[in-house]
Amino acid sequence: VTVFFTALFLLATGALAQPVQELCKACHLEQVTDWETHRHAAKQVACDACHGASTRHRTSVGNVPPDRIAGPAEQARLCGACHAKPAQEYSGTRHGALVLASSRTRAAACTTCHGTHTLRTVAAMEKQCARCHASLPAPCKPTGCATCHKPHQLAARR
Ligand code: HEC
Ligand code: HEC
Ligand code: HEC
Ligand code: HEC
Ligand code: HEC
Ligand code: HEC
Repeated sequence: VTVFFTALFLLATGALAQPVQELCKACHLEQVTDWETHRHAAKQVACDACHGASTRHRTSVGNVPPDRIAGPAEQARLCGACHAKPAQEYSGTRHGALVLASSRTRAAACTTCHGTHTLRTVAAMEKQCARCHASLPAPCKPTGCATCHKPHQLAARR
């Protein structure tokens, strides 16, 4: 009996000692490979930080949904737990107001600009601005949006 429980204990702790991404890799290689390039990976902000441990999900071949998956309207709270200032500023903008009111809006959530598992460069993010803002009012220039519009505040600095 002791041997049995020792084996069980080793099995359980062995499984827990494994980094969470190793438990997702077999089915989500693309997301794990992407995430490895993000600053989150270097700081051990792993899959479970945003999706929960998802134990039943990963042991049911995906038949049970993961614990959490943040829709656009939930991201200010999820990401804001660690990035308080950007989330607070963003929530007061037109982007934030529209997204927090409805996930079905055309406005930008955190991951719309930043990407989800890979981190976008500022230049890549400005391509996103242009995608949604095809026609710009007169004071704007077609590139370098962030030189005039702080991305989490939006109001232009004159
Ligand atoms: C045995 C395979 C398997 C493992 C292991 C697995 N998943 Fe999944 N996962 C799936 C399947 C199947 C889907 C549904 C895929 C689809 O709809 O394209 C899915 C979907 C998801 C989704 C998207 C759900 C949605 O509603 O869009 C997330 C997030 C996710 N998995 C997270 C994880 C995380 C985090 C882990 C590791 C802790 C993990 N998965 C481990 C099979 C797995
Ligand atoms: C910083 C938060 C965060 C981390 C860390 C994270 N995800 Fe996600 N993930 C999300 C969000 C938010 C979505 C919803 C889609 C979106 O907004 O782009 C998502 C979507 C997914 C999906 C659905 C398909 C897709 O690519 O959109 C899968 C599968 C997934 N994540 C797996 C993982 C795995 C595996 C890890 C660990 C290597 C991981 N995620 C780490 C936030 C995260
Ligand atoms: C559990 C805490 C945590 C959560 C949740 C989290 N992050 Fe992070 N994030 C970090 C840490 C830690 C870093 C690395 C900071 C550093 O390297 O100085 C980071 C880095 C970043 C960076 C790069 C910052 C830079 O200075 O270049 C961006 C962008 C980012 N996260 C966006 C997000 C988004 C979007 C979400 C939600 C989908 C999110 N984060 C959720 C902790 C978190
Ligand atoms: C409209 C696009 C856009 C949205 C929406 C957005 N960001 Fe950003 N964010 C940017 C850009 C562009 C930068 C780079 C600013 C720079 O380097 O000058 C940035 C910088 C950051 C940084 C690193 C520097 C800092 O200010 O700490 C973090 C962390 C971050 N954003 C998190 C978030 C989170 C969390 C959300 C959602 C609550 C969010 N962002 C929403 C475009 C956006
Ligand atoms: C996914 C689409 C999308 C992306 C990406 C996006 N925006 Fe927006 N933006 C919107 C929508 C929708 C509105 C609200 C328009 C309205 O009120 O009619 C808006 C509003 C604005 C406003 C007006 C704010 C106000 O107070 O009225 C500014 C400025 C702005 N965006 C700048 C940017 C910049 C700069 C970027 C990139 C860093 C960006 N947007 C990325 C969709 C987007
Ligand atoms: C040279 C500075 C400058 C640049 C660069 C710039 N803008 Fe503007 N933008 C302004 C000014 C000034 C206004 C009008 C006043 C305000 O919004 O505070 C404005 C207004 C806007 C508005 C409408 C706001 C409203 O109240 O309806 C949007 C949307 C916008 N800009 C998006 C962008 C995007 C996207 C880019 C990059 C492709 C960009 N701007 C580049 C200065 C600039």
